[in-house]
Amino acid sequence: MGALKPLEIRGFQVFKGFLSPEEQSALVEDLRNVAESAPFFAPMTPSGKKMSVKMTSAGELGWVTDRSGYRYQANHPNGQSWPDIPKTVLSIWQAVSGCARLPDSCLVNFYGEGARMGLHQDKDEGCFDVPVVSISLGDDALFRMGGAEKGGKTDSIWLNSGDVVVMGGAARLAYHGVDRIRFGSSSLLPKGGRINITLRGVDDPRQD
Ligand code: SIN
Ligand code: MN
Repeated sequence: MGALKPLEIRGFQVFKGFLSPEEQSALVEDLRNVAESAPFFAPMTPSGKKMSVKMTSAGELGWVTDRSGYRYQANHPNGQSWPDIPKTVLSIWQAVSGCARLPDSCLVNFYGEGARMGLHQDKDEGCFDVPVVSISLGDDALFRMGGAEKGGKTDSIWLNSGDVVVMGGAARLAYHGVDRIRFGSSSLLPKGGRINITLRGVDDPRQD
C-alpha cells in the first residue's frame, strides 16, 4: 500500500496507484469469497428502473434498493446475513480514512460493459462525519465529482485499478458518479469489467 500524498479535487482525496498489483489480486480473491456467500444481484431503483451495475455487500449492513426505496439492511435480498468485511479491505480503510471507527458497510459494485452510475450523493447513512472510502479494481472509470449542490460545476478524473478515493469533510455529501468505463482496459478481471468497493460508517453509535 502506497502512502503517497493524495490529489485533492473539490475536497475528494484521490490516492493514485495506492494498491500494488499483488494487493489488487488479493482483494479480488477476497471479493470472490464474499460473492460466493452473498451473490451479486441486479438492483432496481424505487421508480422501477434496473440499475446497470450488479451489487452485493459485506459487513453489518448492506445497501439495497428496490420498489420500497434505498436503505441499509442486515440481510442480503435472499434473507442471509452479509459476510464479514475482508481484513484486506479494512486495512485500506485504516490506512486512508483518518477515522478511528471501522466501517460497518462494504458495498461491492460490479460494472460490466456499458454500466455507469448517475450523479448522486451518499446520504442514506446515519452519520456524515465518517468519510466514505472507495476502492477501484479492474477497468478504468471516468469518475465525476461535484459539490454538495445539484447542478453545480463538476470535474472528472479517470480512476484506474488500485486507486483509492476518500470522500470526507466537505466532499462527504458531494455529488459524484461514474460516466463510463473503458471495458477491457485492465487485465485484473479475466472477463473484464470494474469492481468498486465503497466503505461507509452507517450506524450512528450516538443513536443507540
Ligand atoms: C458509488 O458512488 O456508489 C460508486 C463510485 C464508483 O464506482 O467509483
Ligand atoms: Mn456513491
